Amino acid sequence: MTQQSDTTPDSVGEVYDVFADAGATTALGGNIHVGYWDGADDVPITEATDRLTDLVAGHLALRPGQRLLDVGCGNGDPALRIAGAHDVRVTGINVSHQQIAHATAQADSSTARGRAAFQFADAMDLPFDDGSFDGAWAIESLLHMPDQAAALREIHRVVRPGGRLVVTDLCQRQPFTGDDQDVLDGMLRVYEIAGINTPDEHRARLAEAGWELLELTDIGERVRASYGHAATAFRGIAASLDTAAAGQISAAADLMEAFGRHPHTGYVVITARRP
Ligand SMILES: C[S@@+](CC[C@H](N)C(=O)[O-])C[C@H]1O[C@@H](n2cnc3c(N)ncnc32)[C@H](O)[C@@H]1O
Repeated sequence: MTQQSDTTPDSVGEVYDVFADAGATTALGGNIHVGYWDGADDVPITEATDRLTDLVAGHLALRPGQRLLDVGCGNGDPALRIAGAHDVRVTGINVSHQQIAHATAQADSSTARGRAAFQFADAMDLPFDDGSFDGAWAIESLLHMPDQAAALREIHRVVRPGGRLVVTDLCQRQPFTGDDQDVLDGMLRVYEIAGINTPDEHRARLAEAGWELLELTDIGERVRASYGHAATAFRGIAASLDTAAAGQISAAADLMEAFGRHPHTGYVVITARRP
């Protein structure tokens, strides 16, 4: 990765617990990821984030009866949407206790009840047997992991040969330098991000872990509006709080907006296959 921070699974879990307590991890309607607009419409962010989930599902080449792993499952919304729309079973893992509790409660009342389960686990040390899944996805979670290579190797181990991995993640189209470096460093610090890869770094990490790359596309311009929407939502939450988290969430909003405006900010959708 181009940058490194002191991020650990514990520090990531703690920051998501703080954001969850403040209501910030449901600010975008439950999903904790960017929205997707095709340029010809103006759907709300809550719909646009579901579209990103549907884009991921489309790249997974799902078949009835498959078992899937959601790596860094957030509040469980992507897993419940995919298990609700397709005849598949999903296991979601995450390092935030609050989010696992939220996801489990949501599953009980969802149409995917009985086909989606959530558990606390670190992607860099997965508690599953070799080849136990037909495929996996990771939506905006790899960037939090201090050893992405270990996570990609672990996912490779637990997905059967021939199975797919779909990753979506922020990327640096070109490295941030000079004054812009402060924006990037702020993002890493406030959001407990271990590093944001360039597309070539994404390719290299996957290859090192044994994945065959099928497709890597930068959809950055289709998702760019998300950063402004998220910043507005975070500012609204900060204004309603009378706790230390208010300042943290307000600073997070400013950084999000500056990062989202920057032309070097891209967003990759990656499809890979275990040979
Ligand atoms: C930006 S959120 C995305 C959540 C979800 N994928 C979504 O799209 O709504 C990042 C998620 O990755 C999880 N995460 C970060 N590091 C992790 C790790 N080492 N192992 C498992 N999950 C992790 C976080 O707890 C958080 O739920």
